[in-house]
Amino acid sequence: MHKMKTLVTGSIAKAAQIIVRGEVVAFPTETVYGLGANAYNDQAIKKIFKAKGRPKDNPIIVHVSAKKDISILTKAIPEYAKKLIDKFFPGPVTVILKKNEIISDMVTAGLDTIALRMPSSMIARKFIKLSGVPIAAPSANISGSPSPTGFEHVSSDFDGKIPCILKGPVSRFGLESTVVDCTGKHPVILRPGVFTLEELKKIDRLAKIRKSSLKIKSPGQKYNHYSPDARVKLITNYELRIKNKKTITAFIGLNKKYSKIFEFVKICRSNEEYAKNLFSFFRECDKRGIKTIYCEKVQEKGIGLAIMNRLKKASAKT
Ligand code: TXA
Ligand code: MG
Repeated sequence: MHKMKTLVTGSIAKAAQIIVRGEVVAFPTETVYGLGANAYNDQAIKKIFKAKGRPKDNPIIVHVSAKKDISILTKAIPEYAKKLIDKFFPGPVTVILKKNEIISDMVTAGLDTIALRMPSSMIARKFIKLSGVPIAAPSANISGSPSPTGFEHVSSDFDGKIPCILKGPVSRFGLESTVVDCTGKHPVILRPGVFTLEELKKIDRLAKIRKSSLKIKSPGQKYNHYSPDARVKLITNYELRIKNKKTITAFIGLNKKYSKIFEFVKICRSNEEYAKNLFSFFRECDKRGIKTIYCEKVQEKGIGLAIMNRLKKASAKT
């Protein structure tokens, strides 16, 4: 592939112009950076798949800047989904709804549903608004690598491969949005994320999480995600025994007592901080040539559920 020049810019207007030209642009959101293109332009969408090396059967979230844009894209919104949108859009939650024909199969991978999100990041929303179209965007990482939480991460994956990176701050949450299937009688979480099950239950107390990935409804869930090059091992507070002191190891978690055993350590004061730092820590470890990353397990409630979901995927790498 020939190398192109990648413009890294703070100008939302410039980035929007590039979208209008049918090109892809990486942009910041409050969860992770996205790799966006005009959701109505199949040629532009193709460029996302190509740049990421993304399997064609993995559908892409469509991002809007205002709630009024939702009705053009969808059919039949259940009552609980209306409430969810009312209360939690804009924010780190994605809803799956029946789609309208206006959205092509390229975006939704042939499904009759569409994933919709309205980011709370002001930069993201201004960018979408100025582009004048909904923006289809997966996370802005090469497929399989940790999601990008800073523009440098996007650069390291896509420099020379995409025309533009809209530069913004480090992602506020650092983990992806919660994907909620809103096509059934009650909401079902397909991918745990920043927005918690506990909060979703306030909208519909019969909300639940789809257990295991036996039946794969979110196609992305079957691929190995979030993996650094290093081996990832999950540990609890008590089970730490490092036999081979010579291997280069790192630790991320909540417990201070580990800070001395490892060469590279990130101690987090809360699950929120853990979530925010996890992916960038993975990337930093790879840069340093670390062989094994020990990650402390957390309780699977609140955002802890999403942290454990990402940790399990990262450690399942074979
Ligand atoms: O926070 C986020 O969600 C970020 C930012 C950029 O918005 N985006 C993101 O996109 O994480 P991506 O493509 O990395 O993950 C989207 C997930 C995938 O697992 C995909 O399979 C699922 O959402 N998905 C997309 N459309 C779907 C649909 N119609 N039905 C079921 N799952 C869908
Ligand atoms: Mg992704």
